[in-house]
Amino acid sequence: MAIESVDVNPAARLVSPDPEPEDFDAEASLRPKTLDEYIGQDKAKENLKIYLQAAKMRGEPLDHLLLYGPPGLGKTTLACIVAQEMGVQIRVTSGPAIEKPGDLAALLTNLQEGDVLFIDEIHRLSRQVEEVLYPALEDYALDIMIGKGPGAQSIRINLPRFTLVGATTRAGQLTGPLRDRFGVLLKLELYSPEELARIIRRSAAILGVRCTQEGALELAQCSRGTPRVANRLLKRVRDFAMVIGDGSVDGKTAHSALRRMDIDEKGLDELDRNVLRAIIEMYGGGPVGLETLAAALGEEAVTLEDVCEPYLMQMGYLTRTPRGRCVTRYAYEHLGIRAPRAESDGQQSFDDL
Ligand code: ADE
Repeated sequence: MAIESVDVNPAARLVSPDPEPEDFDAEASLRPKTLDEYIGQDKAKENLKIYLQAAKMRGEPLDHLLLYGPPGLGKTTLACIVAQEMGVQIRVTSGPAIEKPGDLAALLTNLQEGDVLFIDEIHRLSRQVEEVLYPALEDYALDIMIGKGPGAQSIRINLPRFTLVGATTRAGQLTGPLRDRFGVLLKLELYSPEELARIIRRSAAILGVRCTQEGALELAQCSRGTPRVANRLLKRVRDFAMVIGDGSVDGKTAHSALRRMDIDEKGLDELDRNVLRAIIEMYGGGPVGLETLAAALGEEAVTLEDVCEPYLMQMGYLTRTPRGRCVTRYAYEHLGIRAPRAESDGQQSFDDL
């Protein structure tokens, strides 16, 4: 079992919201430490402030908290902020890193009163491990079986009171009993370009990079609503600014650097454009099933579903229908492909959209 372990995406994409190895240190230094420093997610933040204050007033740990939403939006950051605001320690792990019930038992028995246990990708916990978690969450207790067969006995070990912060990109994959044990559910949304521009300028100040509002907005528009992508683009564009420009990230430098990195003006990279192009050219604009599309592109279905689709849907280029994925007329426009006017094969006409 590894604590502080994080899955790394092997197919590194500049605009992937999944963490790359070099993100870890950078994210730690750029991470806001308090809720007041945290930009965006206003609804989640305002509610969390109240829950934190109430827990502090009662002198109790915060209720168990589930953070869900697309990757790269700051779930780990929020978990660290919860610990910081409550004045307690945080232990960071992830669903796949907790292989056996004993791994979880070791984590839980090492917690101090009030600590935060952060489990990323909590939907990937095994059923066996989940069963150990239930009494821990409900009664702050561990039930341990001693022996086997008819003579087996269960003994109960009391745990310190703690807060579990679970994070998932797939709230729908959580089992009902686990979901029900979280007192607070917070949904994180993709960030607006204005919020991302504020995050970029804050990060630039920490990194000692000059970055104008135009430069920040240019990067923000291409960051797929995701701070992790925004901060990564800032660092790459800083390289271009240093070598080709005068070191500052202004609108012009950001614009030309992004085009050189094959990221278009809407933040789509090669894979996103390939998804749209494949649906148009191979499947007449859709509908096409996710698995079929993934096979056609030689990609994993989960990559398309978790990484490409949320952004393509938010941008209005893609829709999910019961019969499969379809592109919209905006996808045709964006790619400069002439859209069909009316359909004879039962597809929706773009005139209806
Ligand atoms: N860096 C990454 N996410 C952030 C956020 N939401 N606010 C401020 N800085 C960030």
